[in-house]
Amino acid sequence: MKKTKQFDLKKYLQQKGKFVNKLLVKYLPEDNSIMSRAMRYSVLAGGKRLRPVLVMLGAETFGLNIKKIESAICAVEFLHTYSLIHDDLPAMDNDDLRRGKLTSHKKFGEAAAILAGDALLTESFNLIAKANVPAERIVKAIKVFAGYSGFKGMIAGQVEDTIEAGKWNKKNISFCKKKLEYIHIHKTSDLIKASLLTGAILAGAKDKSLKALEKYGHNIGVAFQIADDILDVYADKKLLGKNGSDKDNDKLTYLRLYGKEKSEQNANKLIKEAKKVVSGFKLNKEVFESLADYMITRKF
Ligand code: IPE
Ligand code: IPE
Ligand code: MG
Ligand code: MG
Ligand code: MG
Repeated sequence: MKKTKQFDLKKYLQQKGKFVNKLLVKYLPEDNSIMSRAMRYSVLAGGKRLRPVLVMLGAETFGLNIKKIESAICAVEFLHTYSLIHDDLPAMDNDDLRRGKLTSHKKFGEAAAILAGDALLTESFNLIAKANVPAERIVKAIKVFAGYSGFKGMIAGQVEDTIEAGKWNKKNISFCKKKLEYIHIHKTSDLIKASLLTGAILAGAKDKSLKALEKYGHNIGVAFQIADDILDVYADKKLLGKNGSDKDNDKLTYLRLYGKEKSEQNANKLIKEAKKVVSGFKLNKEVFESLADYMITRKF
């Protein structure tokens, strides 16, 4: 009997990652100013490139040649990197290490780090606008992307995580669990959803397909952050490339409210449901399934 070849996610991520790294160099500024150096430093420091991979997957699944949206593939990594630079600032999580290197403010100073984040954020919208697809798709993609990354999306999650959560730690556990759900959905899952949707919208996917992707993205995104909370404590810090500061910052995390075992169980459940959503997909089904597993099996 002919043996069906198992999908090799590791190879897939390696190949896609290499491709994305080349593109990022192309869309980053080349000059030697402090701003350009700071932008290049954080974007090219490393990272799994998960969000660009999701843009490509969203686009390819709906039949678009990714050559047409190279700039938009980089846009999500620019925006994600801005969120990391700002997340690490002393006024936020106050971290010294990111992607195995000194954080932006440690390397360039706080003002430059804030501005490099601002620059990457602004440029990300320019990069979506440059996609070579019909204008109405671009407008729709920008709307969705802005919504999920803005004050009702990722920023809303960061506000609660960084400014408000301190007050809740003293309240009852079911209240905290509700708030934690909100934080995870917005600070992390929203950008993961936005990445998949940006690719699919630029490819002209229909609303029904977008709904399915949204549900899948929601689940893998929340599971991704549960894993991030676990890794913050249990990962090999060298592999992780960051020091893990949740405990020092008295953060409301999954690990804190549920413990390791229950956290893993909940993450598993979310991944199972995500795989159900894509079970009817004709194209790239095994990519979606393997990627879902990767959210919680990753070591960094
Ligand atoms: C870290 O994201 C920030 C979170 C949303 C948890 P990643 O774990 O994707 O970081 P990189 O891009 O690989 O460095
Ligand atoms: C950060 O969450 C989410 C964003 C940057 C939007 P975390 O604060 O948990 O991310 P890490 O652990 O520093 O990467
Ligand atoms: Mg944070
Ligand atoms: Mg942080
Ligand atoms: Mg974290």
